[in-house]
Amino acid sequence: MRLAVNIDHIATLRNARGEQEPDPVVAALLAEKFGAAGIVCHLREDRRHIKDHDLARLRQAVTTKLDLEMAMTAELQQIALKTKPELITLVPEKREELTTEGGFNIARHYDVLAEYLKPFNAKGIEVSLFIEPEKKAIDLAAHAGADMVELHTGAYAQKKLDEVRAVELNRIREAAVYARSLGLKVVAGHGLNYLNISPFKDIVEIEEVSIGHAIIARAVLTGLEEAVREMLRIIQ
Ligand code: PXP
Repeated sequence: MRLAVNIDHIATLRNARGEQEPDPVVAALLAEKFGAAGIVCHLREDRRHIKDHDLARLRQAVTTKLDLEMAMTAELQQIALKTKPELITLVPEKREELTTEGGFNIARHYDVLAEYLKPFNAKGIEVSLFIEPEKKAIDLAAHAGADMVELHTGAYAQKKLDEVRAVELNRIREAAVYARSLGLKVVAGHGLNYLNISPFKDIVEIEEVSIGHAIIARAVLTGLEEAVREMLRIIQ
C-alpha cells in the first residue's frame, strides 16, 4: 500500500506567525525522500493553510505525484488546469468546518459534474472524488467519469468501540471491492493515524492512503523522517 502525505498543516504552522517557516515545499520534498508516493494539498477557498504561491512551488518541486484537493468551483477549476497536478480530488467544502466533513455529494452536482471534469480528462489530469463508502456514491462516481474514488474513513476513525469500528471497516472494505469491480482506482483517507491504520493493509483493493494531521503532528515531535517511515512500516 502506498502513502500520500498531506502537508497542509505545515502551512498551518507557518501561517501562525506569518513567516516563511516551516516551508510546505521543503516538507513535501522530505516526505518524498522518506518514501511518500505522493503529496497532497488542499487549496481552500479561505486559503487558511496552503496559499496559491505554495501550490505553484509544489508543482515545480514535487516529482512523485501531486494531488490537489479542491472544491468544485470555477475558480479552482481554472487554477487546477493551469497548475496541472497529476491528480485532483474533489471534496465538499464549508468555510466554517475545521476539516473536510462528509463526502462529496455527487448526486447534488451530477448534472454539471461530467462537464466540469471534461477539461481535466482532456489534459490527462486524473480525477478522484472523495466519497462516503456507499454503493450509490460509487455508481455515480463511475458514471460521472471519475478515475478514482477516495473513500472517507472519518466515521471509522471516530468510532471508539471495537465492534462499531469493525462495522465501519467492513463498509469501507465492501465499498473498495465494489469500486474496483467497476474499474475505479481506490484510495482512502481522513482521520487515519498510527493506531487505527493497520487493518487497512489487508484491504488489497485500497492502493493508497492519504494522511495529513497524524503525520505532521508526530513530525513536530519526532521529525518528518521518523513520522513518514513509521507510517510506511505499518502499512507495508
Ligand atoms: N483526504 C481528504 C480528501 C481530506 O480532505 C483530508 C483532510 O485534508 C485528508 C485525506 C487527510 O485527513 P487527515 O488530516 O485527518 O489525515
